[in-house]
Amino acid sequence: MPDFVGALDQGTTSTRFMIFDHEGAEVARFQLEHEQILPRAGWVEHNPIEIWTRTAAVIETTLQRSGLHDSDLAALGLTNQRETTVVWNRRTGRPYCNAIVWQDTRTGEIAAALDRDGRGQVIRDRTGLRPEAYFSGGKIQWILENVDGVRAAAERGEAAFGTTDTWTLWNLTGGPNGGVHITDVTNASRTMLMDLDTLDWDDELLSFFGVPRSMLPEIRPSADPGAYGVTSRYGPLGGEVPITAILGDQQAATVGQVCFSPGEAKNTYGTGNFLLLNTGTDRVRSQSGLLTTVAYQFGAEPAVFALEGSIAVTGSAVQWLRDQLRLITTAAQSEALARQVADNGGVYFVPAFSGLFAPYWRADARGAIVGLSRYNTDGHLARATLEAICYQSRDVVEAMQRDSGVVLDVLRVDGGVTANDLCMQLQSDILGVPVSRPVVAETTALGAAYAAGLAVGYWRDQDELRSHWAEDRRWEPQWSPEQRERAYAGWQKAVTKSLDWL
Ligand code: G3P
Repeated sequence: MPDFVGALDQGTTSTRFMIFDHEGAEVARFQLEHEQILPRAGWVEHNPIEIWTRTAAVIETTLQRSGLHDSDLAALGLTNQRETTVVWNRRTGRPYCNAIVWQDTRTGEIAAALDRDGRGQVIRDRTGLRPEAYFSGGKIQWILENVDGVRAAAERGEAAFGTTDTWTLWNLTGGPNGGVHITDVTNASRTMLMDLDTLDWDDELLSFFGVPRSMLPEIRPSADPGAYGVTSRYGPLGGEVPITAILGDQQAATVGQVCFSPGEAKNTYGTGNFLLLNTGTDRVRSQSGLLTTVAYQFGAEPAVFALEGSIAVTGSAVQWLRDQLRLITTAAQSEALARQVADNGGVYFVPAFSGLFAPYWRADARGAIVGLSRYNTDGHLARATLEAICYQSRDVVEAMQRDSGVVLDVLRVDGGVTANDLCMQLQSDILGVPVSRPVVAETTALGAAYAAGLAVGYWRDQDELRSHWAEDRRWEPQWSPEQRERAYAGWQKAVTKSLDWL
């Protein structure tokens, strides 16, 4: 058996390739960002060709720099930004248009219409989701209705839909004229088209969006030795490596944090934040604005479910300070800037750029910066941005506790923003529970590698993976209970301003 496992993480802002060893330690990585195309307010697109060329480049560069080859990899796992919708021509391999990204709100009216005539309830019951612009179903409908030739191509069976796992798998396995057209249950569970009981596409749901079944990939478990084929020897790996796992990135992070038992949860701080609580093989219905989703399905074992609190804008608010306001030149500088002030100076920032997701689900919410006085500086705005990440996480932790009765005694965190020590201290202060960061903070790629390696016997079982988990750092709450509640009350008031805007 080769010595390493590879993982490709096709995320919202960047694509990275990582290689791990038997201990789950990182051996090599390389990543590249891709363009965020913002043609109108509320629209967010990616160029699928750019995503594929960056994918190929990060794989090639990682191999070159590490001196490793395809033959050193026992298996490859894929993980990806979820919901982002690509439609391409099966004959030519060319996308019909840019990918519509999960944050894009253009399909808000399609989603709202579903709730006016009872279809929304069918979606809630069958998919565990809510009718929202966030999910793929409405995005496919939009492309069918608005991009020339796609409806006719779909009727001829020529148009293929996929989230970016499916798009990269298609390209990794076959080159331009077609590889395999497959997704996994976790990604399919984010479309509003899959029934959580059957784990298959549902004809009635397809009819709500006018999506022909012929466009859809086959749904397979999240990890399986023979499920997704091998990489093409003409592709960036230069050889045939078995692809044995696919998971949406938040589900992969759940695996990477070894949250294998009911009641275990993780919070990933990326472009957005996503808190997932393992609920075992039970589907728990949320009364508090959370989603029910598939956490993973390993081979022929039953699917494991999660409750999810999705927050659209967290790390991307820091990027907004960098790219649009130009207050900082790197995301990491947000910490130094925020440390220039002792507190938020009365300023709250609700970064509702895509409306507000969990637990509010208000597509009409808009970003708000409130509480400003002449005294305030860029330091206060940076601090308010970091606090917004933490307050939004508190909102979903509270919803999670209401729904599940599970009271968190520690919050397991991962993702890029967790490198920001001030933000993690604020998270602990705002929640009132310790925050724990593992040694490998890239748990998304690690989870994809774990699932792929388990499938081929590179790792024995889940207990072996658990033994790899090690804490890097822990933050304890320092605020008094009164300070915490006063500050949170200010946040809740700021949220009402953001909700009342339109
Ligand atoms: O649901 C969207 C999520 O999968 C995106 O994650 O890490 O790319 O922001 P990330």
